[in-house]
Amino acid sequence: KMSLYSETYRPQFHFSPKEKWLNDPNGMVYFKGEYHLFFQYHPQGTTWGPMHWGHAVSRDLIHWEELPIALYPDEHGAIFSGSAVVDWKNTSGFFEEGNGGLVAIYTSAGTYPDSDRPRQRQSLAYSFDHGRTWEKYEGNPVLSDEDITDYRDPKVFWHDGSGRWIMVLATGQTITIYTSPNLIDWEFASEFGQEEGAHSGVWECPDLFPLMVDGNPDYVKWVMLVSIGDNSDFKEGSRTQYFVGDFDGKTFINHHGADTLLWLDHGRDNYAGVSWSDIPEKDGRRICLGWMNNWRYANQVPTETWRGAMTLPRELTLISNADGVQLLQKPVSEISGIRKESKVTKAIEVTEEASLMDVNHELVEVNLAVTLKEAEEFSLTIHHSSDEKTSIRYNRINQLLTVDRTQSGEHAFSDSFAAFSECPVALMEDTLNLQLFLDSSSLEVFAQGGRGVLTNLIFPKGTNTTLSLTSRGGVSKVEELSVTELSSIWGK
Ligand code: FRU
Repeated sequence: KMSLYSETYRPQFHFSPKEKWLNDPNGMVYFKGEYHLFFQYHPQGTTWGPMHWGHAVSRDLIHWEELPIALYPDEHGAIFSGSAVVDWKNTSGFFEEGNGGLVAIYTSAGTYPDSDRPRQRQSLAYSFDHGRTWEKYEGNPVLSDEDITDYRDPKVFWHDGSGRWIMVLATGQTITIYTSPNLIDWEFASEFGQEEGAHSGVWECPDLFPLMVDGNPDYVKWVMLVSIGDNSDFKEGSRTQYFVGDFDGKTFINHHGADTLLWLDHGRDNYAGVSWSDIPEKDGRRICLGWMNNWRYANQVPTETWRGAMTLPRELTLISNADGVQLLQKPVSEISGIRKESKVTKAIEVTEEASLMDVNHELVEVNLAVTLKEAEEFSLTIHHSSDEKTSIRYNRINQLLTVDRTQSGEHAFSDSFAAFSECPVALMEDTLNLQLFLDSSSLEVFAQGGRGVLTNLIFPKGTNTTLSLTSRGGVSKVEELSVTELSSIWGK
């Protein structure tokens, strides 16, 4: 038997639970030097079941310590997704005079009395010991609406402008916004999304936050994230869209056309992602992380003792471009804490004949800048073993970056898994910049400084990595290629 964290496919620098099933990240909040990560957790099995909130903490967003389960199902139902905030001013009255503390806002997922009809309502819990133990509020639930079946995933934040707490809640095919002075009494403010965005699945796990555009404090836009559930008519499965616009404390106005669809990630495996609350102003970052999986096959992925992992934490920023405003995603800078030796190669002429490079490590970051003047297509292939490979191709004619995992390893557990994903990416002065993170069962690709992102699970048996580079329709020139070995976060 393999020892803990050494099992086949066990992520080495992404959070996964010691054992059993995990889905969405929940209650992400920074408090007293710790980043909290709660998560949808089923401690009795490796498939989805009655939900609890599992718990982990980190001081650097990279190394995680798993703590005991934070929230157990109760008379109101199971504990579905939600958020946590620091109630600094004790608006809730849960804490002692002059003290603030952590409050979790989550969905109680139960059933109506004497029936098995699902009933979703919002509840509170609070902690006096920085999240180690929790008291459920005796007045739970605090928010319900008997007319809406899918009524869940509250994300709450403090809005200075209106001096109110704001909740964004997934309500079927829309996001409903509520406000409150104290986290207990909630008032309807507005509803968003009837006419906008993708509606191929149930709307879930919203988030809403402000970001400076181009780092300019006088130019701020609001970003709304909305995950949409699986629909078998679409090959992508479950995925996350975003909107950019304005928010006045009550109403969110989307600035892109109603038909513009913006995807947070073009890979298959980044779902239900939301951002950390209460990151200190002097840090100023907006950091997001998702469940690195897809409802299409999440219950079947081939791991044995645990099932589910998170993406790398990513910093979100907005930049302006010709089409308006665009969201960028970069791995947090704390990733430097697990970097080991780098091997740097410069000025490689890439032709139809593959140039090969031994990497020999299982855990690697690759940074690459390649110029495609006449070349039609450049590809970087990661060989995991002699018959397993994951390819990253850039086509200059249609300006698409493709990650192909059709031959990356195990895939028979789902017909939808052996697939490729595509992301539109424009060259910058004929150059493509790629940053890749290869863990034992995932590949995250960040293109052009976070303008395009593809996150994908892969299940290769081989761990002896080789890279090969090829170019079609002309020569490509790799200006610089660095391969950095990464260390495991599990201290082994
Ligand atoms: C999203 C989701 C949420 C729900 C949770 C249940 O993946 O379906 O809407 O709260 O998972 O585990």
